[in-house]
Amino acid sequence: METLKDKIDIERLPQHIAVIMDGNGRWAKEKGKMRIFGHQNGVGAVRAISEACAELGVKYLTLYAFSTENWNRSQIEVDALMRLLSKTIAEEVKTLNDNDIRLNAIGDLKRLPKYNYDALMKAIDETKDNKRMTLTLCLSYSGRWEIAQAAKTLAEKVKSGELDIEQIDENAFSKYLSTNDMPDPELLIRTSGEERISNFLLWQLAYSEFYFTDVFWPDFGKENLYSAIVSYQNRERRFGKTSEQLTDNK
Ligand code: FPP
Repeated sequence: METLKDKIDIERLPQHIAVIMDGNGRWAKEKGKMRIFGHQNGVGAVRAISEACAELGVKYLTLYAFSTENWNRSQIEVDALMRLLSKTIAEEVKTLNDNDIRLNAIGDLKRLPKYNYDALMKAIDETKDNKRMTLTLCLSYSGRWEIAQAAKTLAEKVKSGELDIEQIDENAFSKYLSTNDMPDPELLIRTSGEERISNFLLWQLAYSEFYFTDVFWPDFGKENLYSAIVSYQNRERRFGKTSEQLTDNK
């Protein structure tokens, strides 16, 4: 019997998948548990999806783990999330190395508690030579923050005479974003039934296909990922061209 995984055309795999992991809190609430119980169970989904992406041959997986806005949650939840993140990162280094996965992080990382920042930097360093897939955690991240940072760096370069204003175009601008060494995501997945972008990769998602599912993040497994990829592969990406132009290869 043909499985969902068999339906995936490996030749047309998205190179980069971005995920807004949402619904941990509601998943826990449904079970009468604390929100952190949802986050703890979300770790299993992170593991499953990272493994599935690496097995398929996806080169970049980017996860929205903690947004700039998430700092406004209760101190108890923020502390618990920070501890969970550093604990998970430290525990997963061996698996990342065994699977040849490089860990990366983007965002306003200096805002993270020192113990968390140090754990992150250690894991990034210990996995830096891995080649199969890059797993990027977005931490204390927001798209507007990132764009404003890039604008600031560009302005400084112009001011110091290092860069001419005329040299600033889309290509030059994207080099100052924290994703400068990766292709834009072809596919964005958001779980939990919300259909918003929530300040995630605002620049990079310009032409991405969006896939929304009602499944809460802790329940999102490999089969759900395969469904998202099959859905992506059934779409026609036109980049502003007409359907006829694409078939005529113009
Ligand atoms: C969104 O659910 C989820 C988060 C803000 C945190 C994501 C963190 C994890 C999955 C933990 C481990 C992550 C890594 C990378 C090791 P929510 O709390 O907004 O849920 P709700 O919308 O139902 O309240």
